[in-house]
Amino acid sequence: NSSYRIVAIGGEGIGPEVVAASLTILQQVAKLEGFTLEVEYGLLGAIAWEQTGSYLPQATIELCDRADGIVFGAVTQGGLLELRKHFDFFCNLRPIRSFNSLLHKSSLKPEKVKQLDILIIRELVSGIYFGPSGRAEDEKGIYGFHTMRYYDDEIRRIARASLQLAEKRRGLLTIAHKENALPHLPWTRLVQEEATLFPSVILEPMLVDNLAMQMVLNPQRFDVILAGNLFGDILSDLGGALVGSIGLLGSASINSNGFGLYEAIHGTAPDITGKGIANPLGTLAACILMLEQWGETAAAQRIREAQERVLNKGYRTADLFPQEEEILVNTETLVNLLLEEL
Ligand code: IPM
Ligand code: MN
Repeated sequence: NSSYRIVAIGGEGIGPEVVAASLTILQQVAKLEGFTLEVEYGLLGAIAWEQTGSYLPQATIELCDRADGIVFGAVTQGGLLELRKHFDFFCNLRPIRSFNSLLHKSSLKPEKVKQLDILIIRELVSGIYFGPSGRAEDEKGIYGFHTMRYYDDEIRRIARASLQLAEKRRGLLTIAHKENALPHLPWTRLVQEEATLFPSVILEPMLVDNLAMQMVLNPQRFDVILAGNLFGDILSDLGGALVGSIGLLGSASINSNGFGLYEAIHGTAPDITGKGIANPLGTLAACILMLEQWGETAAAQRIREAQERVLNKGYRTADLFPQEEEILVNTETLVNLLLEEL
């Protein structure tokens, strides 16, 4: 019988609420599928700062060192980028998949997002988030700067990961780039060079501004989208609008050992914090990715199907603006409904 260790990091805002909700469901699915989950709690972000004087305490790193996965809630900023960097979680997978019962929640017409299944792959530990930065002064005045810097090898390794995943899907890899303005970041050429080992994958370089427009005009044409850190961040929120709520989307950030950090795509949502109404399905989607990463595919499938049944019956958290014929539920009720359907 397998046993897994999870480090749960609630963070701030609605983070602790959606992590607790997801862990309840994970524990139940573990029981049903015959494996065990040991959960330890770690601090990160503002709460960690208050209690330990560090946004990413050494104790949290040590917990993560011994774990099989990190389930993360949300923080406003402090500590998260450091955590991603520390464990070299370079490969961020952000699936944008529509639910059949939620097509009318999309910002687009339902037929435009039917069967939508895009995988955004975002490079997560380099680019403008981590390049040289600072505030300085010269003769013109005080200025700030962040540098979009990528080592060729950083682009090559995320390219290989993307090619592998595209090969197992529909075989179309769209490369988000901005080479007309940023010619020293030759994503297209580097991905093309790596792609010689993947003859079945079709490459489609696309300027990222045009790509954003195409995602709105015709999202179903996309399969895998590879993007650097900043472009991937922006495009994935656009994905939230396509499927009806950013509260539905989860992500997995994997390093080269297969170890991962699992978090929703949304933020801390201070406006609804503590009200018990947050949508836990984003964090739960991330947990599904964790189960898949572990090879616990039956457990992953069980949660997916439970989710589908609950949504088919019309239950909705507030972020989905329930209309007539739909039933507004809070986090706890949604969790109980999911448990019944597992
Ligand atoms: C995300 C978030 C983070 C990011 C923030 C909180 C730093 O927006 O995970 O998408 O930009 O990476
Ligand atoms: Mn973001």
